[in-house]
Formats: sequence, C-alpha cells, structure tokens
Amino acid sequence: MSLYKKSFLKLLDLSTEEITGLLDLAAFLKEKKKKGELHRYCEGRNVALIFEKTSTRTRCSFEVAAADLGMHPVYLDPKSSQIGKKESIADTARVLGRMFDGIEYRGFGQEIVEDLAKYSGVPVWNGLTNEFHPTQILADFLTIREHFGTLQGKKLVYMGDARYNMGNSLMVGCAKMGMHFVACAPADYMPGKELVDECLKIAAETGAVLEFIEDPMEATKNADVIYTDVWVSMGEPAEIWKQRIDDLMPYQVRMEYLDNAGPQCRFMHCLPAFHDLNTEIGFEMYQKFGCREMEVTDEVFESSRSIVFDEAENRMHTIKAVMAASLCENII
Ligand code: CP
Ligand code: NVA
Repeated sequence: MSLYKKSFLKLLDLSTEEITGLLDLAAFLKEKKKKGELHRYCEGRNVALIFEKTSTRTRCSFEVAAADLGMHPVYLDPKSSQIGKKESIADTARVLGRMFDGIEYRGFGQEIVEDLAKYSGVPVWNGLTNEFHPTQILADFLTIREHFGTLQGKKLVYMGDARYNMGNSLMVGCAKMGMHFVACAPADYMPGKELVDECLKIAAETGAVLEFIEDPMEATKNADVIYTDVWVSMGEPAEIWKQRIDDLMPYQVRMEYLDNAGPQCRFMHCLPAFHDLNTEIGFEMYQKFGCREMEVTDEVFESSRSIVFDEAENRMHTIKAVMAASLCENII
C-alpha cells in the first residue's frame, strides 16, 4: 500500500487499508501537533489551493496543514484567477503542474477535479465537488474512531438531502469501512442507483450494511451517529429553499431522534449549519418562511451530544495526512 504521488479524488478509489492508513497517519500527526513537535515533512514544497466555491474549514485546514508540513500554500479565490473563464481546466492543470507539487480543488463537477489530476502530472486533492467531499469523511471517521474506538459496525444515519456530496461520500466511506449506513430521506432525496449499486458491491466484501429508510423513527433506532448537512448546497439556486424546507423539515435533526437512538448517539454535521438566526441566510429564511432552525435544532447542535467541533478540528489533521501521504515517500 502506498499513496505516494497519488491523487485523492474520491473514496471509491481507495481501499479499506488505505483509508485506515490515512486515519492512522492523521492520528499520529495530531498527536505531534498537540505535543508541539515539528513535523515539516514536506519542507520547501509548494501547493496550489483552488477554490471556486467559498470555504472556511477546508481552506484553513489546507493552509495550516501546508504550513505545519513546511510547505508554501497559494490560495486561488473563486473570482480572481483565469480558471474556467479564460483558460480551460486542461491548460490550467498543465500550468500549475509546472509550478506546484500538489493542487487542491474545490468546485463544481467531479469531472473537473478528475481532469486536473489527469493533466497536471502532480497529486490533486478534492476539497469538495457536487458529487463528493472525501476529505470531510476522513475527518468524520477520525472523530467517530476517537469517540467510539472503532468504525466497524457503527451505525451512522444521514438525514436530509442524501443525493449530494455528503450523502454520497458518507455512503461510500461507510461501505468501505464495514459500517452500518442509513440514508434517511424522502424517496426523491435518496442517493442515485448507480452509486448505490457500486456501494452494495463493496459492502458485500466489507460486511457493511446499507439501508434506505424514509421514516425517521425507524431509521434512527440504535444509531451511534446522526449526521446532517445543509438542505441547499453551494451552487444550488436560492429559489429552491422553499421546496427543500417543505420536503425536508420532517428530517430536521431533533432531540427526539437522538433519544430514540439511545444514550450512545452523537450528533455530527460537516458545517456550516443553520441552527439559529445568527447567519444572514438563516435570518432571511426566518423572515420568509418563519423557521428559526433548519437541518438541526439549536438544542441538538449545542448539546453535549454534539461533536461537531471535534469534527471540524479533525479536518486539519486529516487533510495534513492526505497531503503528506501524496508527497512523502514511505510515510504510508
Ligand atoms: N465542511 C466544510 O467543507 O466546510 P467549509 O465549506 O467551510 O470548507
Ligand atoms: N453539501 C454542502 C457541503 C458543505 C461542506 C455543500 O456542498 O454546500
């Protein structure tokens, strides 16, 4: 097993052992960071961070992790580079590949990040596409491992829009790691058939269980983790909020679902979250539709069962592991 010189585009490309290897490396790097021990394993390298969508956690994780590894990160924001507008992805990739040792990409279609990897000749890391958010899943799994000691057999219930990057990636990750994944959503919001079939094949080998259940009380029974994400993702039109609120309000994560799951159950969210009125969009939705909370209640979000900030911190340690694995020979 070696991830040296390899890209990190989606979890489907990695074996169970490789994912475990990245989690172990992240735990090792986290310990070093906590002890204040330098780990500048990629001294003198340069990485490009392309963001065609906004970000707090992912951008900061890549920047801090790059600095901790001794690298220089260059941030390309959603507006001011030539990417897409005046220069194709293939041309951009060939230019950046001449200057950088690795490239992170956050943006739209999965094919864009795949093309960047194909044309740049250097490792490319997916910082979120419409289809997948693989670095998020590593952080989620490190967090679950820290709280529960293991991933194998743990039941994760994803509530909300299960057809987009988070639902897709969690389903793939759970299948790879032998977990029990439940998509709990209205029928129209379930993951696509092609990906489900692929994950079922993986599950047959790893012992994972995948379920698709519309009823929240049935789905959340014995859950170890209840997970949700925003109802309208970046790049989707603002006009769909009304429809999403109507369709997904029964899937808002409330304390009754955590209680139904049992005392072991923890709440997770990739963040950012709409759980109060302290955001522009959250307040606008309250004025328009009268909802004070969206995908999760403030009670759940702020409770001691919520481990969202451990999860957010782990974005940095796991992203550091991904870059180190691609750029250092023999680290994994
Ligand atoms: N979870 C996550 O990707 O957060 P950002 O959008 O802030 O990067
Ligand atoms: N589904 C969300 C995830 C944000 C981390 C989005 O794509 O906006």
